[in-house]
Amino acid sequence: MSIVTKSYENSGNVIVDYCSKLSVRQHELQKELQELTIKSAPMAGMLGAPEVLTLGANFIQLIGAKNILDIGTFTGASALAWSLAAGDNGKVNFSSIFVLYSFPFSNILRCKAIYNGMSNEYFLCAIIQYPFQVLTLDINHDNYRKFGLPIIKKCEKTLKKIVTYEAPALNTLDQFLTEGREGTFDFVFIDADKENYPSYYERAVRLIKSGGVIMVDNALWNGRVAKDISTFDKSTKFINETNYIIFNDNRTNSSLINCGDGIHIAFKK
Ligand SMILES: C[S@@+](CC[C@H](N)C(=O)[O-])C[C@H]1O[C@@H](n2cnc3c(N)ncnc32)[C@H](O)[C@@H]1O
Repeated sequence: MSIVTKSYENSGNVIVDYCSKLSVRQHELQKELQELTIKSAPMAGMLGAPEVLTLGANFIQLIGAKNILDIGTFTGASALAWSLAAGDNGKVNFSSIFVLYSFPFSNILRCKAIYNGMSNEYFLCAIIQYPFQVLTLDINHDNYRKFGLPIIKKCEKTLKKIVTYEAPALNTLDQFLTEGREGTFDFVFIDADKENYPSYYERAVRLIKSGGVIMVDNALWNGRVAKDISTFDKSTKFINETNYIIFNDNRTNSSLINCGDGIHIAFKK
């Protein structure tokens, strides 16, 4: 019996069953998405463990996270969890209307509609300020569009907070850094390809603000990281390397815990 397992794998581990019974909290939409993903999505085992998503949601509420980065969308379970945990966005009002040229580098404002301006030289732009956003990154959002979106769509305010970036995540993270978003995120969840984990962690530490939380999923990789190094495959090697990088990083405090497939949590000083 594995001692590292996601609760939905029903491994028969009584401790995992007990802990998940007394910690997992799921919205109806989360239950629906988990069920559909397990039943119909390809490589369903990539689905985030509900006990990990509950813990992340608790951190988001604890620190009042507003800008959230979700690296690795798959069917959208983690993005949905973060969006449900984050607060609700406000409505547009007159004070949210600015002249566009005065916000050339803004990272939390989204242009909703462009109107003809007051003169030929200038134009006005109605901008909705979204205080809560979940930016979810994946190299391919087909699974999100097919499985997650039709379910998440049922709650418009939850869907509205989710912004998708379909590209190699490293490129998107580098784009954020180039745009000057360093130190602007509150919570980052790393759950994409394992080979890039060290690079994702490095970008996350730079993008997150002091007091922010980074959660690295699959940090125990079904227990493989604790075996002899000669048995490591590529993914195990990079996950193990990331665990050491986090532990030795003096920019963060951290805890490696046996929850789901293992989570390494880094708290930015
Ligand atoms: C483990 S799944 C994410 C699970 C999701 N966070 C959840 O909670 O259900 C990993 C995802 O990473 C994506 N991925 C793989 N390589 C990637 C890359 N280079 N850039 C961005 N996403 C990538 C895959 O397409 C896959 O959807």
